[in-house]
Amino acid sequence: MAKFFGNLHLVLAVGLVLAIAVMFAFSPDAPLDANAVLHWLHVFFGILWIGLLYYLNFVQVPTMPKVPVELKAGVTGYIAPRVFFFFRWSALLTVLTGLAIAILGHFAHEAFTFTGGSRVKMIGLGMWLALIMAANVWFIIWPAQKKILGIIEATAEEKAAAAPRALFASRTNLLLSLPMLYCMVSANIT
Ligand code: HEM
Repeated sequence: MAKFFGNLHLVLAVGLVLAIAVMFAFSPDAPLDANAVLHWLHVFFGILWIGLLYYLNFVQVPTMPKVPVELKAGVTGYIAPRVFFFFRWSALLTVLTGLAIAILGHFAHEAFTFTGGSRVKMIGLGMWLALIMAANVWFIIWPAQKKILGIIEATAEEKAAAAPRALFASRTNLLLSLPMLYCMVSANIT
């Protein structure tokens, strides 16, 4: 048991096999098509992305000032780089799967231009909010964190300037995540 549950990849692999078994067990009632698999992948990556966003805002950032100086390197040198690896790639994969759902559903253009019915307008708003959040991750938070965590060379001034930039962008994403999630779970187009 310890050998199995101690192996992250093995646990994920068995979970994936079980998920595929469930997909086949319930099709044809729940059609096993690209839309169903994309929705599943989209929500999986969305949970990982938003889960790490909430971990950063509710746990790590408020706690770091209380962490003794000699222990901070445990977070900045080991935990945080892994957090930002899964944070940025789950953001990208959430965007790609979300776009694929809208394109395969033939409502991407209507959604982005707010020219469809109210549900299409709602998912359109959710998609624009989520795209702003993804841009914050890749173009503000991650470049700033690379300096703050010492992943790239940066002077003390550059690190000091990067910290509030990363915080403001992360808190903006926290704020936008609430209306974005309402749009995502309430549109129910496909
Ligand atoms: C953190 C970001 C995101 C989260 C947590 C998220 C979550 C969700 C959830 C829970 C659903 C409902 C799934 C269902 O009803 O089966 C959904 C649907 C959808 N999402 Fe996202 N989403 C995110 C970002 C995005 C992005 C960036 C896009 C595209 C640019 C997008 C496009 C869509 C589309 C098109 C749907 C289907 C709407 C429908 O069929 O009613 N999402 N999303």
